[in-house]
Amino acid sequence: MNQITFYIVQNENEIEILRNRSGKYNNFTYTYEEATIDLLKKNFNLPDSLYLIAKKGDEFVAFCSIDKDWWEDNYFMIREIIVDPNFQKQGIGEAIMGKCIDHARSKGATGVVTETAFENFPMQKLCAKFHFEKWDNPQWKEGITYKLIF
Ligand SMILES: CC(C)(COP(=O)(O)OP(=O)(O)OC[C@H]1O[C@@H](n2cnc3c(N)ncnc32)[C@H](O)[C@@H]1OP(=O)(O)O)[C@@H](O)C(=O)NCCC(=O)NCCS
Repeated sequence: MNQITFYIVQNENEIEILRNRSGKYNNFTYTYEEATIDLLKKNFNLPDSLYLIAKKGDEFVAFCSIDKDWWEDNYFMIREIIVDPNFQKQGIGEAIMGKCIDHARSKGATGVVTETAFENFPMQKLCAKFHFEKWDNPQWKEGITYKLIF
């Protein structure tokens, strides 16, 4: 975690840093599609959104975003998280996600949700570390929805 700085994204153009980035775990690949980048730009302007970028010097290390675009009242959603492969398994995912969860708590949220693929074991481990619980989401069955109630 040495020399890594966390920045709050101030301008939606900074989200472009995610374009063409991807993460891989076994046969599962996570890629930033155009639609995801568009949604991130849209939700950036919602009240109480927090987007964070971690860097080491000029080098991209990680991104995590949380916003209130969720249908249950007063929940925040961790919409995206990615740690550059060169920096994974060093606790950076936990650190940046923890900052987003703290933000939701500071805004008086009821809880936080996030969604991930059945194959995404690293993300599932990360959610378990924060004591998220699997939730039977009536609107999404293509993966796992996690909920953390404060
Ligand atoms: C999920 C992700 C953000 C985790 O980031 P990270 O910085 O490596 O996570 P941390 O170092 O904080 O580790 C958190 C836990 O996950 C586990 N973990 C992380 N990567 C793992 C891997 N490849 N295999 C097994 N466990 C892994 C760690 O072991 C750790 O648990 P532990 O401390 O009990 O050992 C990262 O793997 C990633 O960017 N993946 C690609 C993008 C993605 O899938 N995003 C989520 C979309 S929903």
